[in-house]
Amino acid sequence: MLRPRRAILEMAPYSPPSSGREGKIRLDFNENTLGCSPRVLAFLREKLSEERLSIYPEYEETRRALGRYFSLPESHFTICNGTDEAIQVLVHTYVGEGDRVLVLHPSYAMYRFYAQVAGARVAEIPYRPGDLAFPLEELLAAIGPDVRAILVSNPNNPTGSAIGLAEIVRILEAAPAAAVLIDEAYYDFYGVTALGLIEKFPNLFVSRTFSKAHGLAALRVGVLFSREENVAFLRKGQSPYSVNALAALAVRAAVEDREYLENYVRQALAARGLLYEGFRRRGIRYWPSQGNFVLFEAGARAIEIRDALRARGVLVRDRSYELPGTVRVTAGTPAQVARFFDALDEVWP
Ligand SMILES: Cc1ncc(COP(=O)(O)O)c(C=O)c1O
Repeated sequence: MLRPRRAILEMAPYSPPSSGREGKIRLDFNENTLGCSPRVLAFLREKLSEERLSIYPEYEETRRALGRYFSLPESHFTICNGTDEAIQVLVHTYVGEGDRVLVLHPSYAMYRFYAQVAGARVAEIPYRPGDLAFPLEELLAAIGPDVRAILVSNPNNPTGSAIGLAEIVRILEAAPAAAVLIDEAYYDFYGVTALGLIEKFPNLFVSRTFSKAHGLAALRVGVLFSREENVAFLRKGQSPYSVNALAALAVRAAVEDREYLENYVRQALAARGLLYEGFRRRGIRYWPSQGNFVLFEAGARAIEIRDALRARGVLVRDRSYELPGTVRVTAGTPAQVARFFDALDEVWP
């Protein structure tokens, strides 16, 4: 047997449960539950040709469109193959074997994943028991000179907890030697961004994705922002063609259709309110969320309930492996919430 690096040997494998989802009510991955803007498909149809597919991707137009959309110069971001590549590039740029990385728990699994691949020592700061609030003081206390990266989902998946700019500034000021990533995958549902702090803090990195509100999860597009000199280092260690040509085209159309995005976000926020109301009426405990998803308490039967909902065509995500008894449901549209509760009422308690 050819022996891999120790970091790989010691890692637990990660396999998201993600097959056979098409055609069901997808309330399990916090995607856009309707699909992307129809303008994306129309644009792809118009632009695709045999020749286009034979040419390595070109990003100039996409960079220009993203610069306009995010109101930042092109020198301040790099386009990535999803947030996942953004996390990987950041970790590979700043974290070495044996360095310390701070993440929160529970949070997006890929932070720990890429830090472990790099051979880092990962410390997990738990969200506060009970209300699952952001453990700011605990995180600040864990920061030391050997911490090279702090990876924060804001709002956090799966708890829905979020912090404001004042808290982000406290983290940035406490960790001048660490790359601090604020992952804003759910920005469109929250509306608070750290992008405005980028010029002021040389240790700040912000990521956005087109996988959630924009409905392009299959294409894998994210954007990683920082100061110009940091972005130059990130790009040095990044594959020059990690984003494929279809994805680069699709994003250009997606950013043009703000109306589609705003309309979907409105529906998701209404759906979130209906989830709260439905849980309250049924006496089911839930955690208020700043994202397009709500975590609720399903108790000892969490996995059974997930499976029974699946049998009725409604997909939700069990989180009991990290927060016992909890299940996460995506806030899609009001009609999807109604379908969810109809199915839940058949299987609850
Ligand atoms: C906090 C967070 N970041 C990033 C992602 C994934 O983003 P991408 O599809 O851009 O890799 C997710 C998806 O679940 C997420 O919850």
